[in-house]
Amino acid sequence: MISVDHVTVRLQGRVVLDDVALSLTERRIGVIGDNGSGKSTLAKLLNGLLLPDEGTVTVDGFDTRSHGKEVRSRVGFLFQNPDNQIVMPTVAEDLALGLKPLRLEAERVRQCVSETLERFALSHMADRSAHLLSGGEKQLVALAGVMISEPDILVCDEPTTLLDRRNAALVMKTIAGLSCMVITVTHHVEHLDGFDRVLVIDEGRVAHDGTPDQAIPSYLESLS
Ligand SMILES: Nc1ncnc2c1ncn2[C@@H]1O[C@H](COP(=O)(O)OP(=O)(O)O)[C@@H](O)[C@H]1O
Ligand SMILES: [Mg+2]
Repeated sequence: MISVDHVTVRLQGRVVLDDVALSLTERRIGVIGDNGSGKSTLAKLLNGLLLPDEGTVTVDGFDTRSHGKEVRSRVGFLFQNPDNQIVMPTVAEDLALGLKPLRLEAERVRQCVSETLERFALSHMADRSAHLLSGGEKQLVALAGVMISEPDILVCDEPTTLLDRRNAALVMKTIAGLSCMVITVTHHVEHLDGFDRVLVIDEGRVAHDGTPDQAIPSYLESLS
């Protein structure tokens, strides 16, 4: 459970999130809104990538400001661009990096990497150069690299924006199959089918908060 308690964020003197208060408990939560409305800023607050100027964010009671390590072990973050996420030369090495904070023995790391590669249907690329994969393959590797440490919550910031439709669908299907709680920012409202809750962000505030069939039409109407 993530609690956002009266959070204000200012970037370069401008208010980007304005007194946002949310209690996030649902299994599937979508975040939509115009470019520049504050969606990425909100997403980054949820695992302590960004700290609030006012208010607090807590994950299972751990404050992102004072307990960053505990928060990051619970909340994984998938970026829009997998190139920002993949750092090691090969796919298997990159997945192993995600286990580093757990300080496991080498044999346990090998086993865990192998199981995760299998789970994400990536076993055949274990020794391939991660940077030479296609966009869709890279995003799946990045996702596997986040999920290998078994976070309780996955936050995704437009994880399919750089992908073609086929790969976007594959990544969203893979994310949909995860058992953990997922909070995803997206411009593709069709990806929010079956979600429990959708937040519409507008100029740094939560303009709408409800089920997809309430929130999405309210957002689409605001565009016309
Ligand atoms: N590092 C930064 N410094 C200054 N302003 C920023 C920074 N990052 C984002 N912003 C501004 O904050 C606002 C919200 O950005 P962001 O959360 O990225 O929006 P979204 O993800 O909804 O497109 C935008 O106006 C953006 O220009
Ligand atoms: Mg963004």
